[in-house]
Amino acid sequence: MSVTRNTKNVPYYLLGSGAFDQLGALIDARRDPADAPAVFYVDHFFRDAAEMRLPLKKNDKLIFVDTSSEPTVENIDALADALKEELGTRMPCCITGIGGGSVLDAAKAVANLLSNPGKAEDYQGWDLVKNPAVYKIGVPTLSGTGAECSRTCVLTNMRRRLKLGMNSDFTVYDQLVLDPALTRTVPREQFFFTGLDTFMHCFESQRGSYRNVIVDRLSAAAVAVCKDIFLGSGDMMEERNLENMMVASYLGGMAAGNTGAVHPISAGLSIVLHLPHGKANCYALSALADIYPIEHALFMKMLEKNKITLPSGICRDLTDEQYEALYQGSIIHEKPLTNALGPEFGTILSRERLTSLFKAM
Ligand SMILES: [Fe+2]
Repeated sequence: MSVTRNTKNVPYYLLGSGAFDQLGALIDARRDPADAPAVFYVDHFFRDAAEMRLPLKKNDKLIFVDTSSEPTVENIDALADALKEELGTRMPCCITGIGGGSVLDAAKAVANLLSNPGKAEDYQGWDLVKNPAVYKIGVPTLSGTGAECSRTCVLTNMRRRLKLGMNSDFTVYDQLVLDPALTRTVPREQFFFTGLDTFMHCFESQRGSYRNVIVDRLSAAAVAVCKDIFLGSGDMMEERNLENMMVASYLGGMAAGNTGAVHPISAGLSIVLHLPHGKANCYALSALADIYPIEHALFMKMLEKNKITLPSGICRDLTDEQYEALYQGSIIHEKPLTNALGPEFGTILSRERLTSLFKAM
């Protein structure tokens, strides 16, 4: 095995039901000067939720983030510009993202843009962020994306027709508050599709050629927890599984850099059909039985056990331009496709083959 990349993880986390009660103290420890504003980006799902007892103080800013679609570079620029205008010359003492992967990623991206000039798309890529971001706390309210501990923040760029994040050590959260009680109100389908994102990240990594021992072990642990949750004797959303899913997401997030064939096809579906990420992954895996036979079979059992359906025909009757965009939006992801299929991935997943996979979904 070669030497791993010099790897940064989240330095601090709290885990357990009720951990959210400590958020105020964590933010207060950062308030220097004492009137420095703290910024909260919160999923609009919680706009009226009584359980969100936010520890807001006088100068703080609360921004609800519309998560009906995933973050785009334009959304992020708008959020960052609005915040800069409101704060003037002041810098926030802390940015807290409270929500699913979209909100966690949006908060990460804005924190980078407050201390780095230019636009979000300038930083889509690897190690392009030059200055440390504003201190940030992540509070996931939905488990599975691994956004709470990844070193990226996935942003859709329609102009360049790609989904790519700001891969940087500066993107990593400084503190996490992992409170499984916050996930009790997640709709069941969403819990399933998002939870399975962890399963996908980890088995894609296990089946790929870019490997290292830590990622292998983390992936195996996260896959085992996912099997317990989605194929075990209990209900996937019973109390202990809310915590298990949060832990699986965290472990999987640390292993999530090396995706395979599922994520590129999922990205194509999200770009063209605007499918949410977790659901798009499921459609992608549903068509990849020959590349991932074991995981495909497990996934079909998970669907059945948890009574989740994937209506077929989502890519039926699209225009030639749309099929071409699906192909381009998938095949552009060379790194994960090479990880899964080797340098000849373009021959294995030819335009004709990919188009027929989409038509079969
Ligand atoms: Fe993912």
